[in-house]
Amino acid sequence: STYDVAVLVGSLRRDSINRKLANAITRVAPPSLRFRFVSLDELPMYNGDLEANRPEAVNRFTAQCAEAEAFLFVMPEFNRSLPAVLKNAIDWGSKPMDRNVWRDKPAAMSGTSPGAIGTAVGQQHLRQILGILGASVLGGEAYLSFKPEMIDAQGDFADDATRKFLATYMERFAVFVHKLVGA
Ligand code: FNR
Repeated sequence: STYDVAVLVGSLRRDSINRKLANAITRVAPPSLRFRFVSLDELPMYNGDLEANRPEAVNRFTAQCAEAEAFLFVMPEFNRSLPAVLKNAIDWGSKPMDRNVWRDKPAAMSGTSPGAIGTAVGQQHLRQILGILGASVLGGEAYLSFKPEMIDAQGDFADDATRKFLATYMERFAVFVHKLVGA
């Protein structure tokens, strides 16, 4: 069977290296995972006053996440944590508590930055938050120190080592999703 995976990219930047990474990852993943990019562009900052009448952009976002069977987060690291735009999206999805869209769903994560430990520390924070919200986070790590030549002009991983590393991570994710979601 196939599974619907919502992809959340933690950067709004048009030329985001994390968006490029997310696209490249979807191309090396097994066909059992069907990816749909969920936009964070229009989400307002969380404000409890908006709860009585949630903005359309928020409802669209939470509906797309609720429909998904699994999540792939691809994000930069900001000051050794997750970017506020992604934390804000996670906060919207976590409320109201009885409609927390993250609970009991499998999640995988990746990210890249020009730094040497490319998003490793930010991913620790994301892992912790998702755990608190009841998501099941795939074990292991997939962070990459970004080099411009990592992804070619067609948007694919340029070298075999990187391609195989992410392909293996996504194969593990497909098995994990299958175990949690069922056939
Ligand atoms: C950064 N950047 C960064 N990089 C890193 O490896 N660790 C970090 O803690 C930070 N902190 C940080 C804070 C803020 C506010 C900004 C704007 C940037 C650099 C970051 O990795 C780089 O800008 C990436 O290109 C951002 O990812 P996107 O937008 O290209 O996907």
